[in-house]
Amino acid sequence: MDNLFNITGKVVVITGGSGVLGKGIGAYLSAQGAKIAILDRNEEVGQKQIEAMNAKGGDAAFFLSDVMNQEILEQNKAAILARFGQIDVLLNAAGGNMPGATIPPDKTFLDLNIDDFKKVVDLNLFGTVLPTKVFVPELAKQKKASIVNFSSESALRPLTRVVGYGCAKAAVTNFTKYMAAELAQKFGAHLRVNAIAPGFFITEQNRDLLLNADGSHTERSKTILAHTPFGRFGEADELYGTIHYLISDASSFVTGTVAVVDGGFDAFSI
Ligand SMILES: NC(=O)c1ccc[n+]([C@@H]2O[C@H](COP(=O)([O-])OP(=O)(O)OC[C@H]3O[C@@H](n4cnc5c(N)ncnc54)[C@H](O)[C@@H]3O)[C@@H](O)[C@H]2O)c1
Repeated sequence: MDNLFNITGKVVVITGGSGVLGKGIGAYLSAQGAKIAILDRNEEVGQKQIEAMNAKGGDAAFFLSDVMNQEILEQNKAAILARFGQIDVLLNAAGGNMPGATIPPDKTFLDLNIDDFKKVVDLNLFGTVLPTKVFVPELAKQKKASIVNFSSESALRPLTRVVGYGCAKAAVTNFTKYMAAELAQKFGAHLRVNAIAPGFFITEQNRDLLLNADGSHTERSKTILAHTPFGRFGEADELYGTIHYLISDASSFVTGTVAVVDGGFDAFSI
């Protein structure tokens, strides 16, 4: 039997691909033989990533993008097809949170900034829906194709403070399941969609929430770790294997699922 995890030559589009997680995921998949199309707003980081991947024998390109703008995404699609000829995988990694869409400990829900809440829903939900709409026609042309959406622990279990982002990611999870049936029934069972729900990883955006200036854990960190059977935060590279699985033949009968990568946080009660 062929290696079920072989992704050599697959063209992988990564939205938000210049972010903390996207950078590592792109480099890992490139090293596994995939061709990488990074779509991001951050051209400076993107160009450096591409150079690094290509210097190691990869085949990667950067496309300046905005996942909330269909016209730009259509231009990206045409440029990717001109460069790589096909699209096999879409990783909807663009997403994130904003302070105004959270509730600090000294405030209540009544202080919520509705505009920021909407912006967070726009980026995480519509920033997943629009690229899906734009890239599905190309993905459907392939013999096997796959989409991976980026949900979050906050979608599974509401986290204090994180109201806008949690709602948006819960919608991403629902959209993932909706699309599993939609794609299989209307486009064919060769087109799969799943989500990954990363738990707690220390990255640039949440470092100040989770670590004090001296590197020790904040009170919130200690609460998270007390609810994590593994007793530690995740490392970004611990997501790579799950994504590799979801975009390869190893998961050929898997669609509409949410792969939780969280050291047991979601499974744990007391
Ligand atoms: N880091 C974590 O611990 C964690 C946990 C759970 C889920 N996630 C999710 O994983 C995904 C990646 O997270 P990350 O930590 O790499 O985030 P990040 O903020 O480091 O990266 C997000 C990237 O998206 C890009 N981006 C933002 N708006 C865009 C737009 N309109 N169009 C195109 N690109 C845009 C940014 O330039 C950035 O490079 C996100 O969806 C995030 O919500 C992250």
